Amino acid sequence: MKEHILGNLFTKLLTRKNPEQMMETASKAGLEKTLTAIDLIILGVGAIIGSGIFAVVGIAAAGQAGTPGAGPALVVSMIIATIASIFSALCYSEFSSMIPVAGGAYIYSFVTLGEFAAWIVGWLLTLEYLFGYIGVACSWSKYVMNFFQSPSFPAWLSNPPAWLVNNYNAAIASGADPSSIPHLFGIPVSLNLPAILIVLFTTWFLIKGTKDSTRMAAIMVTIKLTVISLFVIFGAFCIRPENWTPFAPHGMRGIFMGAFTIFFAYVGFDALATTAEECKNPQKDLPIGIIGSLIITTIVYISVALVLTGMYNTSGNVAQGFLNAPLAFVMRLNHIKIIPELISIGAIAGLTSVLMVLHLATTRVLYAMSRDNFLPEIFKTLHPKYKTPHIITLIVAFLCIIGTFMFDVKDAANLCVYGTFASFIVICIAVLILRKIDPDRPRPFKCPYSPWFPLMGILCCGGLMIYSFKELKDSATLFGLWLVLGIIIYSLYGYKNNRKAEIAEVNNTSKEDKELVTKK
Ligand code: ALA
Repeated sequence: MKEHILGNLFTKLLTRKNPEQMMETASKAGLEKTLTAIDLIILGVGAIIGSGIFAVVGIAAAGQAGTPGAGPALVVSMIIATIASIFSALCYSEFSSMIPVAGGAYIYSFVTLGEFAAWIVGWLLTLEYLFGYIGVACSWSKYVMNFFQSPSFPAWLSNPPAWLVNNYNAAIASGADPSSIPHLFGIPVSLNLPAILIVLFTTWFLIKGTKDSTRMAAIMVTIKLTVISLFVIFGAFCIRPENWTPFAPHGMRGIFMGAFTIFFAYVGFDALATTAEECKNPQKDLPIGIIGSLIITTIVYISVALVLTGMYNTSGNVAQGFLNAPLAFVMRLNHIKIIPELISIGAIAGLTSVLMVLHLATTRVLYAMSRDNFLPEIFKTLHPKYKTPHIITLIVAFLCIIGTFMFDVKDAANLCVYGTFASFIVICIAVLILRKIDPDRPRPFKCPYSPWFPLMGILCCGGLMIYSFKELKDSATLFGLWLVLGIIIYSLYGYKNNRKAEIAEVNNTSKEDKELVTKK
């Protein structure tokens, strides 16, 4: 009896979805198909290049509290992060061209590994996109405040009270006197107003429709690529080769931790797969979008890393200004005029486009999960006029705002990277499994050199993740707690709801059968 119950439970947990059925459901969903290959590359670059290269790059080079950085070997860390991304991107491309439905990695695990794995992957993707969003929103707020430091702005804008532009911990860390922070019912009120405003802005834009957000992303991408090109061109004249020695001041430990940290800069290309149902020709365009945007990004990152570490010595202690806004800082240090201000504008534009794509991706994953009974029905309601999932977009906005009260860039970025690595590993495994169990399924794009490339993806992502656990104990613990919370929600809601849906489906089918017999 006990064996029977256990056997039944495992069968349910491993229930796989039929890809054809999923594509059929998707075609009925009613999301508008507007995205082309160019739109996808723009969305990809828009999603990838952001606070990673404008802010986190400084931490990757110089390290964070107790954790060493890569120093001038940052370029090696970037190559490692690129390699890990490319293997995973090829696996993503295989899946996205084969099963083009909203939900990305979440769906891919549903058709290969079953219900429980799908829930966990959906939960991991939510961690990745949600915390990616929170981290970038905090960075965005910092850059905006940096920009207002210019003497041309009035004092109330340049120097607002700390409790209005920081969460409580950040306000205290910035030197604010706890008694200067207002209290409401005995609770200190400190909020990151710029971050909240940008959350409201992306929410409004996404509810209005994906096509509009793509147009906006195109403008942002142009601005940020122009600004980064200016940095590389002007900075190249200020390189002092002696800054590149010692090349790896903290050895392999610094290089690996640098690779883990800078991996945040690569997060985002996978978000493209979640827009599959809004693509005109997903089979062909999604692999182009994913791989194309990753190639452009890699060229940009390696150039910036070489110039940045050549302009400033990152082998020893670095200035706080370098950690806050590294690109603008080294330009100012070398007395290059106007460019630091332009970099701030480029960063604000760059981060805005990242925020839009991350917000879009979070909503699309949760939308797909609600369609599969893991989350309440209300999540999948579409706006009657704009045909976008507006309720889930608003819920995600609310969670992001709560997140800005609790996390800073660094901690949110670490959690985002854990979610990304874990989901990439599952996708590489899923590619290998689907090739075995469904070898004849048409694959418009195939990951080359299988099983070696998917295995390399697992090794690179898993290796960096495990290596970081002992260095980033707090973030690793929070990641574990997130997984436990996911399992609890699944047991209490998703599992039961799916069983109810199964019973309802069986009842419906037998009712239809009876009607058919009566008619005959
Ligand atoms: N890759 C994104 C960024 O760097 C998350 O902002």
